[in-house]
Amino acid sequence: MNLAVFASGNGSNFEVVMEAVEKGKIDGQVKLLVCDKEQAFAIERARNHNIPVFVFNPKNYPSKKDYEGEILDQLAKYKVELIILAGYMRLLGPTLLQAYEQRILNIHPSLLPSFPGLDAIGQAFEAKVKVSGVTVHYVDAGMDTGPIIEQEPVRLEEGDTREAFQGKIQQVEHQLYPAVIQRVIEKIRSV
Ligand code: GRF
Repeated sequence: MNLAVFASGNGSNFEVVMEAVEKGKIDGQVKLLVCDKEQAFAIERARNHNIPVFVFNPKNYPSKKDYEGEILDQLAKYKVELIILAGYMRLLGPTLLQAYEQRILNIHPSLLPSFPGLDAIGQAFEAKVKVSGVTVHYVDAGMDTGPIIEQEPVRLEEGDTREAFQGKIQQVEHQLYPAVIQRVIEKIRSV
C-alpha cells in the first residue's frame, strides 16, 4: 500500500509512521510527504528517511482547487493509495476528498466530537475534564468531523501539568496511529 503523509509542523506522528513501516508493522511504504510550510520540521524528518517531499505555499495559488490539483498530480506520480494526515493544518477540499474517498485518515488529540479544532489538548486541560484522549477518523470536509475509526482515552489526573497531559496524549497517539493505519490497510485489502 502506497502512503502519503501530509504534515504542517513537527511531524512526530509522521516519524512513528515511517518507523512502523521500516519495522514492518505497517504493510506499506511512505512514498511522499506533502507539506504546506517550508520551515516545518517534518521536512527534515522526511529527508532523514529518504522520503520525497512536495512542499508548497498555498499563497502562491489562486485557490485551494489549484494547489490540491497539484497535490493530486504528485499523489498520482507516486501511485498513492492512502493519505495520512498528521498535523496538517488545513481543511481538505473536494478535489482531494473526491479522489480519495474513504482513503484519508486523520488523528486528533481529543475524544471527538469533544474539542475539535486548534489546541484540543489545551481546551480539554482548561475544561478540567477527567478524561480526554485520541481519535483516529476518516476525513471529510468538516473540521475533525469524519467517521470515527478508533478512540483511546487518556486520563487527566489531579496534579497533571499541561505538559504532562500533553506527553500522555502524544504517547497514545504514537501507539495508536500506526496500529490503526495497519488495520485500515488490512480492511482495504479485504474488500
Ligand atoms: C497531533 O497532536 C495530531 O493529533 C494533531 O496535530 C498534532 C501533530 O503533531 N492533528 P506532530 O506534528 O505529529 O508532532
